[in-house]
Amino acid sequence: MHYEILTLFPDMLDNYFNTSIIGRARAKGLFTLNTNDIRSYTKDKHRRVDDSPYGGGFGLVMACQPIVDCIRDVKKRLNGSVRTIYFSPQGSLFNQQKAKELLQYDNLILLCGHYEGIDERVIELEIDEEISIGDYVLTGGEIAAEIVVDATARLLEGVLKDPECYEKESLSDGLLEYPQYTRPRVFEGLEVPEVLVNGNHAEIKKWQAEQSLLRTLKKRPDLIKTDNEEKKKC
Ligand code: ADE
Repeated sequence: MHYEILTLFPDMLDNYFNTSIIGRARAKGLFTLNTNDIRSYTKDKHRRVDDSPYGGGFGLVMACQPIVDCIRDVKKRLNGSVRTIYFSPQGSLFNQQKAKELLQYDNLILLCGHYEGIDERVIELEIDEEISIGDYVLTGGEIAAEIVVDATARLLEGVLKDPECYEKESLSDGLLEYPQYTRPRVFEGLEVPEVLVNGNHAEIKKWQAEQSLLRTLKKRPDLIKTDNEEKKKC
């Protein structure tokens, strides 16, 4: 997988993409990532990348020219399939399923907006898909880009030591993960459930499956689609 991130603030991203699991995977070449400074594409003599909105209103809108030129320049360098994504609260909500879907592309171009958004014509001309990371408004798309890179890159081969990590984790099968414990066996009077220490693997598996289901019902019942809900959709 190759990521191209388009931003006005490349420095914001450096730390994240060079640290911990993601940083190590990048250093090993398990994925490649490049950041592009949108401002370096502006043809404005004052290096401006934004302007006031037509029709009035607050704030500034990122202009077409620098973004479109940047996207087109990046596309020229890429081989293979490309998905161009713009981060916006108007996009479809990002989730584990979407992270898996994005793995089908060889390249992801991730456009981070700022100010009051971008000129709509950028979206019409160059964007395949808008993604939101939640129903709240951020000052920019950089955190969203970090989230999408993290959630997709960790699914690539070799990034996590043990592929079972993501086969068993929360949401991989649409359910939350069962509770986890490590030593000591008793902490401040709270004991690790007996079933986990008795060495019976069949029982442990059964307990974990039950806990997964119970937790999901309690904490995120919205993740469990009942037959009735499925039928209502039809
Ligand atoms: N930019 C601003 N808010 C956002 C959100 N919720 N998701 C993705 N990008 C954004």
